[in-house]
Parts: sequence; structure tokens; C-alpha cells
Amino acid sequence: MSRVFLIDTDTASDDAVALIMALKAPEVKVAAITVVAGNVGVDQACRNALYTAELCGSEVPVFRGAEAPLARALEDASWFHGRDGMGDHGYPAARRGVEPVDAAEAIIRTAETYPGLVVVTLGPLTNLAIALQRKPDLGKLVGRCVVMGGAPCCEGNVTPAAEFNIWCDPEAAHVVVRGGLPLELVGWHLCRGAAVLDERDIHRINGMGTALAHFAMECNSTAQAAYLEQTGEHGISLPDPVAMSIALDPTISTSWSSHYLDVEIHSNLTRGMTVVDRLNVAGDSRNRFIWRDLIEKKSNAIVHWMLDVGRWKESLYRALAS
Ligand code: BDR
Ligand code: CA
Repeated sequence: MSRVFLIDTDTASDDAVALIMALKAPEVKVAAITVVAGNVGVDQACRNALYTAELCGSEVPVFRGAEAPLARALEDASWFHGRDGMGDHGYPAARRGVEPVDAAEAIIRTAETYPGLVVVTLGPLTNLAIALQRKPDLGKLVGRCVVMGGAPCCEGNVTPAAEFNIWCDPEAAHVVVRGGLPLELVGWHLCRGAAVLDERDIHRINGMGTALAHFAMECNSTAQAAYLEQTGEHGISLPDPVAMSIALDPTISTSWSSHYLDVEIHSNLTRGMTVVDRLNVAGDSRNRFIWRDLIEKKSNAIVHWMLDVGRWKESLYRALAS
């Protein structure tokens, strides 16, 4: 039986590649794409999602979601992905538009229609937080919730403490980690180093000669330059596709463990930090009062620590070759 996915995305260049991977996976039915403000404004992100779906020959319904984080103004990442989020190559508008239902409602309805649904989030968690506020027992209907986000026990890409998706809307992430969902965190650390597409990988993809391969490399041109400036690392880093590879095949993760996980919302210095109780000390008498609500809710999350780089890249190649 095919697995059913819902993908929540602030569609920019790496999101687009992740969408391709899911839409081209024969064993997966993508029931809905819900769109949130993040990398770019929500309308531009909807255009990008619709264009990507069209390139894949997919009629998957696309739902427009939150225009801004729950409690803050949107600070986008167009400096990283380009003004249109897609490297400013002038991609045309898709032939169809978004559905007349808002994204949070679409998340709820899709989970009710497909119990055991796999939710994959590739952007700030605003839509999911709104869905949880409307339907607090949503988690009972979800089989897995794979979140690209966070910088567990390492530095982030926006601040030393935080990764973009969580930093952008920390209040939403704060709601989601308390929401009773079977969370799996794929943090930014998994998308660096050997996981980055190097010159040989890029050459291989360009040599495929497919429209999807060409698009995947071209739309990430601005992100590639920004990543070099940010980290000093050459190549194309693809956080959302890495997360999608683990959503599609959990065995691509080679090291994971389950912990209490919380998100910092009060400090400016550590806004959006994903604090993981990696040594499992939340229940100690010194710590228990700080972690109390998570302990009471038994809100553990799986954190993925390492991945099989060869198999993540193979799963990407398979999608782009089609
Ligand atoms: C995440 O932030 C965005 O820029 C990417 O699309 C990805 O979802 C990486 O930190
Ligand atoms: Ca994203």
C-alpha cells in the first residue's frame, strides 16, 4: 500500500527539490502541499510550489497558509534563495492556482482522510501550529512528522543558536513540540559537509539531461553562492531534500535517539534554539521544573544525528533522472 504524505513548505529552491523527490517517488502519494511564509512571502512560495508540481506533471492540491509567523513579523531568506526564492531565473506562473481552503484546515482534513499520514515540514511551523490550536488531538492521526529544522547541539545558520525554520517562527515551534505529534527532527547539521553536493555530484546531475535535473541545479544557483559566503563550504547544500530522503526512507538515518526537545522563545541571543535533552537529565531534581510541561505531555522527539550520505544522494539522483 502506498504511504500518504502531506508536505508543508515555504517553497524556495531546496524545498522545490524536496517536492520533486516526493512527487516522483512511486511508493508515495502526496495528498496535499500546504504553503507557509518563510524563505519568501506566502504568495511567492505558492507560485513556486505550483510551478514545481507542474514540472513534475502533478495535480497535487496546493493550499495557501500563514502570511506571517504567529507572533512576529516575517523576516525572509531571500538573501539566501534570491528575491523569488528560486534564484531569480524568471520561471513562469503555473497554469493552475491554489485551492480555496486555508493550509491549517487542509492539514486537519487530510489527516482525517488519511489516518497514519506522514507530515513533512520544510519551513517555519506556523501552519502546523495553527492546525494544532484548532485541533489539539491532531497528533493521533499522524503516523510520522518529519521536521526539517533546528540545530540540535550545534551551531545554526541564522545565529550561532538557531536554524532558519525554527528561528523564523519560534513560537510556532514551541507549540508544535508540545503538540503530541510523532516528531522527527532533521537538523541543519545533517545537511553540511559530505552531505553537500560537490562538483562531481553536480556534474553527474547536469549530465542526466532531464528537465528536472536542470531545474534542480539552476534554481539553487543563488543558494549555492550564499552558502559559500555563509560557511566557506563549496557546493549545494540541500536541507529540505535531505529531510525528504529520511521521510521517504527512514533507514537513510544511521543514528537517531529520542529526547525531550524544547525551543527558546524569550531570549534574543538564542531565539529559536532547539534545546535537546541529549543526556536525558530533564527529570533530575535540578531540571524537572524547567521541563515540566514536556515531561507531563511525554513530548519526546526523535532527533536524527547522522545519515548515510551515499544513499541520500542516490535517492536524489533517482528523482531527478525521471
Ligand atoms: C531551511 O531554511 C530554508 O532556507 C531552507 O528552505 C530550509 O528549509 C534550512 O535552514
Ligand atoms: Ca524550506
